[in-house]
Amino acid sequence: MEKKEISQAVITRLPRYYRYLGELLENSIERISSNELSKRMQVTASQIRQDLNNFGGFGQQGYGYNVKYLHTEIGKILGLDDKHNLIIIGAGNLGQALANYTSFERIGFVIKGLFDINPKLNGITVRGIPVKRMDEMQNFIKEHSIDMAILTIPKERAIEVATMLVDFGIKGIWNFAHTDLNVPDDVVVENVHLSESLMRLSYNLKQEENKNNVK
Ligand code: NAI
Repeated sequence: MEKKEISQAVITRLPRYYRYLGELLENSIERISSNELSKRMQVTASQIRQDLNNFGGFGQQGYGYNVKYLHTEIGKILGLDDKHNLIIIGAGNLGQALANYTSFERIGFVIKGLFDINPKLNGITVRGIPVKRMDEMQNFIKEHSIDMAILTIPKERAIEVATMLVDFGIKGIWNFAHTDLNVPDDVVVENVHLSESLMRLSYNLKQEENKNNVK
């Protein structure tokens, strides 16, 4: 298939398609029309056709989409056909909560270790995953072929730790610390801000309240 540049807007929507298609597969649904998918996802059918056409159009007239094929192809685009080994830096509340979450593994993200500067945490395990010392990190990354790191430490230390991770060969950082990281071009960072999502919820709630007040 000829690869063309896919817009970030489409990429942002792909995980949602992937999730819905995964649910269809679990329910043994083998094919689906764009209209049916549109009803389930509450996205217009034309948006769906447009999005999925980016990959050479997996749909066939009168047949709809082959769910398994589409799920696999979107998975490939998202890089989910490769397994990723991860470490978590910062084994506090958030780091431990993420380590306790089992669903990442189902989509190929395996958390191999946690790292923390707090000596009290060193040696404990979270869901069987060991919490290690920071000076053990470099070897651990090599030994376990780690390519991604989750950063759940205070923002004051995030930049320095990210630099260290990059030096040790990490190529992807899932950054929960509230600061922008300065990394080389070949390293990708995905920032997560739960509070921004909460602010959007607050905004939408306010809109609804305003509408009701007008009525
Ligand atoms: P926490 O205080 O429970 O855990 C932080 C852990 O990081 C501690 O165990 C500490 O010993 C460790 N740590 C500190 N400096 C370190 C270093 N240089 N190297 C290795 N480990 C180090 O805090 P919590 O609640 O888990 O939050 C962690 C971070 O995530 C905070 O910066 C917080 O603001 C942020 N956060 C971000 C959210 C988001 O949506 N982006 C949501 C919740 C928290």
